[in-house]
Amino acid sequence: MKIIKFDYANKASDCLAHEIYKEIKSNPSTNLGLATGRTMDAVYHRLVQINKENQIDFSKVNAFALDEYIGLESDDPQSFESYLNFHVYSPLSFNLTKTYVPNVHVENLDESSLQYEKLIKDHGGIDLQILGIGVNGHIGLNEPGSAMDSRTRVMALNWQTIQSNKASFKDKKMPLTAITMGIATILEAKRCILLATGGSKAQVIQKLVEDDISSHLPASFLKTHPNFTLIIDDEAAKLIS
Ligand code: GLP
Repeated sequence: MKIIKFDYANKASDCLAHEIYKEIKSNPSTNLGLATGRTMDAVYHRLVQINKENQIDFSKVNAFALDEYIGLESDDPQSFESYLNFHVYSPLSFNLTKTYVPNVHVENLDESSLQYEKLIKDHGGIDLQILGIGVNGHIGLNEPGSAMDSRTRVMALNWQTIQSNKASFKDKKMPLTAITMGIATILEAKRCILLATGGSKAQVIQKLVEDDISSHLPASFLKTHPNFTLIIDDEAAKLIS
């Protein structure tokens, strides 16, 4: 695990935005795995800015969402599909026939999960996987207890995830399940970068850096990956001894 630390969150986000930009510039048909969440807002916003200064072509990128809530329409503003359309695909003119999300709108969700795995494999695997981290150590929506060999599947959300994410659902009932890429699916990416910023992530980042690898902290499995970079700011790093 390589750790890159910045004094401020905006510099950490800027670093990740540049990594995504450089990856696509050097390989326009990159297979890109994308995370959602508040941490990513600043990254994607910065990526759009960087691209305005020096435009590159995003239309050949194959983009794979890490996860999707079960029970929302795909155009629901809270769906991860809508999030990525709004923050990434639309402002950067991705080719929407090359953007993928687990299909949660079918009866057989296990079959749908298998198809998502196959889709990633058929494209030759993910080149760069972008990740955030939940306060409970989840990546994607692989909640505590997830096994290292887990693959894309239906996951029940943990109470901490519900607590963290429910604010964005205001008047609507928050979904309690999702389809997420598995830990093994994520670990097969050629390169993984996880960004964590702010004091709310300090405890989980301390555990990620200092504790042993365990399914109690699914993100810790990333430490087995040969090309894993953790980007953090001072606030998220403040409990590391
Ligand atoms: C969400 C997403 C994750 C994200 C994490 C952290 O539930 N499924 O991919 O990394 O939780 O979110 P945030 O950046 O809002 O703290």
